[in-house]
Amino acid sequence: MIVVKSSKGGELRVDGYRVRVVEKLRLPSLDERFKAIKEAGWNTFLLRNEHVFLDMLTDSGVNAMSDKQLAAMIAAQDSYAGSMTFYEFVKTVKEVLGFEYVLPTHQGRGAEHILAKTFVKPGSVIPMNYHFTTTKVHFELAGAQVLELYIDEALKTKSTHPFKGNMDPEKLREAIRKYGKENIPFVRMEATTNLIGGQPFSMENLKTIKQICEEHNIPLVLDGSMIDWNAYLINQREEGYKNMSIAEIIKEMCSLADIFYASARKAMCVRGGFIATNNKKFIEKMKEWLPVYEGFFTYGGMSIKELGAMAVGLREMVNESLIGTEVEQIKYFAEKLTKEGVPVVLPPGGLGLHLDAMEFLPHIPQNQYPAGALAAALYIVSGIRAMERGTMSMERDKEGREIFSDLELVRIAFPRRVYLRSHIDYAVDRIVWLYEHRNLIKGLKWVYEPPVLRFFLGRLKDIENWGKELYETYKKELGNY
Ligand SMILES: Cc1ncc(COP(=O)(O)O)c(C=O)c1O
Repeated sequence: MIVVKSSKGGELRVDGYRVRVVEKLRLPSLDERFKAIKEAGWNTFLLRNEHVFLDMLTDSGVNAMSDKQLAAMIAAQDSYAGSMTFYEFVKTVKEVLGFEYVLPTHQGRGAEHILAKTFVKPGSVIPMNYHFTTTKVHFELAGAQVLELYIDEALKTKSTHPFKGNMDPEKLREAIRKYGKENIPFVRMEATTNLIGGQPFSMENLKTIKQICEEHNIPLVLDGSMIDWNAYLINQREEGYKNMSIAEIIKEMCSLADIFYASARKAMCVRGGFIATNNKKFIEKMKEWLPVYEGFFTYGGMSIKELGAMAVGLREMVNESLIGTEVEQIKYFAEKLTKEGVPVVLPPGGLGLHLDAMEFLPHIPQNQYPAGALAAALYIVSGIRAMERGTMSMERDKEGREIFSDLELVRIAFPRRVYLRSHIDYAVDRIVWLYEHRNLIKGLKWVYEPPVLRFFLGRLKDIENWGKELYETYKKELGNY
C-alpha cells in the first residue's frame, strides 16, 4: 500500500499497483449452484471452478502474478542440474531473508516432509503456536506428538487481542520440563496462524520463544508461508515497529529462526516451496532426503521457471507498494459484517475473513460439522467458494473417535491482488441474507470419509435435505441469481 496523509485527517492507504490482465467472471445461477454442491458431495473442495463465481477457497497457488514474475519465467534457464536461476534464487533468499543455504521443494508440504524425515522420530514432541493440517499429518506420520501452545485469547473469536498467534511462553517452558528437551527436535512458529483465523504473532513473542529455545538448545523453525501479512500486522499493531519497513521486519523475524520454510504458493505468488537456514549441519542432513522425495537440489520438484518467478516474488513480498491490500480488504469486510451482527473472527487478521460457524449456527452440534454446512450454504446462496476450517479438517484419533476442533470457522480467503471491493460488498449482502435465514441450515453427515486429510476428498450429505428449503427460500426472495 502507498500510505499518505488524508485531507480529512488520519492516513489513506492506496493500492500501489494496477491490473493489466483481467479474467471474465461468470455468476452461475442458483439452480446450477444447487446441482453443483450436491454433485460435489457438499464439499467445496470438490466443486469445479466453472461453477464458482468468486473462488475464495484459498490463497494458495492462485495469487495474481506480476509482470516481472511472468517475465522471469521466460528468462529462466532450464537445466536439470546447476541452473543459474537456482543460484540467483539463493542470492535473493540471502538478501531478503538473510539465510545462506536453501533447498527448493515442490511446495510447503514437501518442506514439511523433509523436516519430518530429518528431525522427527517416534516419541518426538513438537510444540507449535498452532498446527496446520499438512504439518500435523507429516509430523504425526513420523511418530511425533504435536503440542499447541497458543495463548488463552487465541480461541476467543471476539477478543481484540492484537496477536492471537502468539505462543504462550509458560506453556513452552512447562512442555520442555515435562517432555525433556532431548525429545523436542524443534519448536515451530507459524506466521499468520492459518487455522485460528489468520492471526499474527508479535515480534516480542517470537523473541521470547527464541530465547527459551536457546536456553535449551532447541532449534526454532519458522513457517513463513504467510510471513507477509504477519509482518504487515506487526508494522500496524506493535510498538516500536511503526517506522520500520516490511523488509526490515521480515529480516528481523528471520534472524530469530534457525530454520525457515515456506509454501511459496502463498506470499511469494508462485507454485513451490523451500527450506532455508544458516546452519550447515542442518542443511546437509536435509539435503540427503531431497533427491528421494523432491528432486535434485537445484530444482527440488519445482519447475525452473517457477524458481525464477519465486525470486521475484520474494522481492515483491517486501515491496511496500505491493503488499497489504488483502489485510485492508479483510478489515473492511469484517467491519461491514460486524455492523450487521454477523459473527466473525476479530480482530481481522490476514489470509481471509473468518465466519464463526459455532455462533452463526449454534443449533448444529460439532459432530454435524457447522462450518462445513455453512461453507456449503454460502456457496448455494452466492457462488462464493470458501473453506471449512473446523472439525471436518481434523483427523480422527487412533480409536476412530472424532476430535472436535477448537474453532469452527468458514474461511473466505483473499488470494493476493485478485478481488475487488465490489466483490466484498456482494459477499456481505449474501452473508447477511444467509444469517437472517440461518435456521434453515442444518448439519452434514459423511457418505464417504477418507482415512487421512478427509476434508480434501470426503463426500457428505445435508441432514434432512435442508439444502432444498434453503434453495427454495432463496429463489422465492431473490430469484435465480
Ligand atoms: C501455514 C502453512 N504451512 C504449510 C502449508 C502447506 O503448503 P502447501 O500447500 O504449499 O503444501 C500451508 C498451506 O496452505 C500453510 O498455510
